[in-house]
Amino acid sequence: MTRDELQKKVCAVLEANTKTVGDFVYTVPSIETYPYQFLWDSCFHAIAFSYLNPSRGENELLAILREQFENGLIPHMVYWERGELIDIDWGMGDKRSTITQPPMIAYAAWRLYEKNNNTAFLEKIYPNLFHFYKYLITERDPHEKRLIGLINPDESGEDNSPRFDGLLGLPPVHTFKENLEKRIALVEENKKCNFDAPFCMKNFFWVKDVPFNSIMVKNLEVLSTIATKLGRGYDAEYFSRVRDEMIESMRNLMFEDGLFWSTYGENYNKIKVKTWAIFAPLFAGFLSKEEAATLVRKHLMNETEFLSKFPVPTVSMDEPSYSEKDMWRGPTWIAINWIIYQGLKNYGFSEEMDLIQKSTLELLRESGFREYYNSKTGEGLGAKNFTWGCLALDMM
Ligand code: GLC
Repeated sequence: MTRDELQKKVCAVLEANTKTVGDFVYTVPSIETYPYQFLWDSCFHAIAFSYLNPSRGENELLAILREQFENGLIPHMVYWERGELIDIDWGMGDKRSTITQPPMIAYAAWRLYEKNNNTAFLEKIYPNLFHFYKYLITERDPHEKRLIGLINPDESGEDNSPRFDGLLGLPPVHTFKENLEKRIALVEENKKCNFDAPFCMKNFFWVKDVPFNSIMVKNLEVLSTIATKLGRGYDAEYFSRVRDEMIESMRNLMFEDGLFWSTYGENYNKIKVKTWAIFAPLFAGFLSKEEAATLVRKHLMNETEFLSKFPVPTVSMDEPSYSEKDMWRGPTWIAINWIIYQGLKNYGFSEEMDLIQKSTLELLRESGFREYYNSKTGEGLGAKNFTWGCLALDMM
């Protein structure tokens, strides 16, 4: 598929999923299945819009920022108009959820800025960004260990990933319904905790997740650059220092035998379930060249682990929980391919980048814009006319 052909398809999908609220325009991931605005989805859309129409991308981010909470948390979902789907009581009115999602928003804003140099936009959203990242640094890490804690699997963006099975008390094979019930129970605890993440929710679920923290590291780097650009030297230095300290903590508390593992609880017990998360540090770029090369050779290019016919499976094929078509338990997702692709790019692994690009384009061509794909056959699964394929534009 040529870039032009891809771009036409991306425009059509984004257009079909566009909604407006007052003066704001935003994109839903899939009209039929996810008819609301989602935080990291909007960041992905903004990255695609950086190629198509940067001001439309700015609008997308401004819309979700309108619903930021006073304490800085940006909800992972804004309903705008409530419908029958995902009818969950999050505890603070009808409009928004009370959990967040991977903090990709500084990166998305910067990608827009790189295209249109709109300093006024950066100025406008800077206070929002400051408060969001500051919230994560303080409220999600009360003991200042420099790792950000999640209070619900959905905050990782990988709702039913097997990384969280143990902590939810679930075996490697279980139904989606069983999994969902556990996650909804955590929403109930959050309400009972009166939304106190650091001291109450941590008794129920407290995971320091490798992708979330890697995305945070990368975004703090970008936020520091944004602060410098806006003449806020003190902030720039602060965010850059926290970034460095996070890397050190990830090394101290997550790293073992060449791999980074998510941890749970106050003792930082490692969750040794092999998922695509082991590649997330590539995106943040803090592995040495040798560490990155070993990781890619031993795991990404390994036919018993992540080199399936349509890579990259979200769970290693040798895990007991791996299922080629069960949502976050083994299928291939384009946003994950994109994160890994950007990580490979940081290290100049061009052959592997090509492989992932080809697999991604073939999935889009053969199976269309779907939520996820069978990692062995490439069959399209989950939501239809799903937007995440738009990220392929940033892989060409
Ligand atoms: C699913 C995904 C989540 C995404 C949402 C909307 O819940 O797991 O990452 O944000 O759908 O696309």
